[in-house]
Amino acid sequence: MKSVKELNPAIIEIIEDAIKAPSGHNTQPWKFEVDEMRIIIKPDFARSLKVVDADNHALFISLGCALENLILSAKAHRFNPSVTMNFTNDKNEISIALSKSEIDQKDALYDYISMRQCTRSAYEAKSVEESILRQLRDSAINEDTEVIFITSKTEIADLESFIVEGSNLQFNNRQFVNELVSWIRFSKRSAEKLRDGIWSASMGMPGIGKRIGSVIMKHLVSAQSEARRWKKLISKSAGFALFISNKNGRENWVRLGQSFQRFALTATQLKLKHAHVNMPCEENPVRQKIIQHFNILNDKQPLLLIRFGYGEVMPYSFRRSVEEVLVNYQNG
Ligand SMILES: Cc1cc2nc3c(=O)[nH]c(=O)nc-3n(C[C@H](O)[C@H](O)[C@H](O)COP(=O)(O)O)c2cc1C
Repeated sequence: MKSVKELNPAIIEIIEDAIKAPSGHNTQPWKFEVDEMRIIIKPDFARSLKVVDADNHALFISLGCALENLILSAKAHRFNPSVTMNFTNDKNEISIALSKSEIDQKDALYDYISMRQCTRSAYEAKSVEESILRQLRDSAINEDTEVIFITSKTEIADLESFIVEGSNLQFNNRQFVNELVSWIRFSKRSAEKLRDGIWSASMGMPGIGKRIGSVIMKHLVSAQSEARRWKKLISKSAGFALFISNKNGRENWVRLGQSFQRFALTATQLKLKHAHVNMPCEENPVRQKIIQHFNILNDKQPLLLIRFGYGEVMPYSFRRSVEEVLVNYQNG
């Protein structure tokens, strides 16, 4: 196998930017291959979340987020990225061919890749001006994805019941809690060592270690305490964005991920924080109620629910290195 050192340094930087993307529970469910001036993104099913994401839609959304970062980075490195998706039968490949570009086509969103984060704290209960909302709305549009913005008090009150119902189903499900706990890193040492999963500090929890952290999550956190926490977080949010895919399918999920990533970067550029409140989309009985409530037609699927508002930066989560995700090159 060839050594990473033989690679064009720009290719390494582009993959480094791609893997700063968000992913469910920070599983980083991706593998990369490089073939001359072509980068291929593939799913790493060993990192799938079998309970909360049984059909892998969140996994493919995460690949879409990485793809969008990769495109922005390729352009900033003066390449033209040409994307081909191959999701026929058991093929799962996103191939990006890079050709040299003579013109500078850097997108302003590129500068926010490292600054973006999923901010899980309570926000400042401050509304967002219409002109800012418009920019956020425009950022998230692509031909496969629709986004509904929910900003009025009555609409948010309706949403609260769906969020609490989804959270109750999840926190009464032992398998869900066990899977979540297995991806929480309860100390800085383990977060730094493993470089994946959700670092407890990014959830606003002190570093208490795996044993105590697991006991708290499995025995003290309950559906009721989660519902109380969510009601507070909802009341402090300026609004919500519901991401809807044209239909269920791997390519559609990737496209939704691209749309969400542009939203997340635009929010960062506009000094807004955002975080996931996906439970109503993840739990099928509640998803069906959302479909009815918002009159979502023709097989379209609501897949991500995001809260946003103004707030403080939280500690950043970690990422594995390029060497760990690049499968056809070896370190050294
Ligand atoms: C498809 C997808 C689903 C996610 N679902 C949730 C979720 O349900 N709850 C949550 O707190 N964060 C969720 N996240 C956010 C991730 O946990 C977060 O991206 C990851 O921990 C890395 O942190 P960062 O985004 O701050 O870099 C999700 C992210 C993606 C891309």
